[in-house]
Amino acid sequence: MSTIDYFAPGRVNLIGEHIDYNGGLVMPIALNMGIKARYKKNDNNTISFASSTHKDLVEFAVEDIPTKYESTSNWCNYPIGVLSTLHKQGLPINGFDLHFDSNLPEGSGLSSSAAIEVVTAYILMHQAGREINPPDLAVLCQKVENNFIGVKCGIMDQFAVANGKKDHAILLNCNTLDCEQIPFDLDTYSLLVINSKKPRSLIKSAYNERKAESEAALKILIDAGKLRDGQYLVDAEIEDLGVIADAIVRKRTRHVVSENIRVKHATRALKMGDLYTFGRLMNASHQSLKDDYEVSGIELDTLVETAQNIDGCIGARMTGAGFGGCAIALVKNTGISNFSKTLADRYHAVTKLHCEIYECKAEDGVRLLD
Ligand code: GLA
Repeated sequence: MSTIDYFAPGRVNLIGEHIDYNGGLVMPIALNMGIKARYKKNDNNTISFASSTHKDLVEFAVEDIPTKYESTSNWCNYPIGVLSTLHKQGLPINGFDLHFDSNLPEGSGLSSSAAIEVVTAYILMHQAGREINPPDLAVLCQKVENNFIGVKCGIMDQFAVANGKKDHAILLNCNTLDCEQIPFDLDTYSLLVINSKKPRSLIKSAYNERKAESEAALKILIDAGKLRDGQYLVDAEIEDLGVIADAIVRKRTRHVVSENIRVKHATRALKMGDLYTFGRLMNASHQSLKDDYEVSGIELDTLVETAQNIDGCIGARMTGAGFGGCAIALVKNTGISNFSKTLADRYHAVTKLHCEIYECKAEDGVRLLD
């Protein structure tokens, strides 16, 4: 039987970090790197998932679709979670084989999990002849991640993977899911994504801890009459944060509120083609993630602070959840090779790690390939 190819990109976030779960504004792009999925119908009533990156192949009968997370086959849980959720919702499922081929480094904060979820959901809907609404696809996949996988992430990653647009940055209001596609024109600059290659071991617990601190701050501000029920942490005013007695929770909140303001300024700057201001806001975002939200670390700080001091770089910051993963930088095209060498050498001297640098572009979201 013939095969059909689909693709879902990874994502990087330009600015608006750790505020999607606080009702904030975020600005990710879908990347020119991602996961290709080759679909093949079969007539033996089985479903199989295989991948070029992992050795384990998972296979089961259509009647035996798993209903909960299986710790034995880690990566397969993402497509299985999507399959199981859509099956429960009554989507007709017939036998098929799905093979994934990825050029997204896993566990490096470029949303390989959102990509595999979204591409699986897209394929199952497409094969069932259902109309596909990308924002709905994102919400479905976030639910899979929250409830099936058990990671309490916000909506940003799945939304970016599902709704990306070539040469545009997505300005997403994570409270209303209103989104605006802003032309991402870098003129004589490029966006570099720098993979720290630092394994993100503590990520799950630290992420949930930050989420809990945000929830605590919201409750304090509501109880003190500084926010109304139904408002989000990003709606707080910096001058009201004194009612939060705990200094740690107070500075977490300062990051959330100030980051949302930075996204608004960055939006204006991008629309005006003012990349210098955009770059300065990226730098300020990093400082806040480092000092107030404390989700950076020696590796990301070394990358970002070194990058910011290399000629031709007009802005750099960590991106994604943090504690390792990737940083991004805006770099003058003519300076890229000097930038890359200087940064890699310095990073290796400090951390003994070899970073990887990718030149990235904003691309379309999940799609059927020709
Ligand atoms: C991870 C989560 C997102 C978002 C970022 C931080 O990527 O999946 O929902 O919270 O961290 O901005």
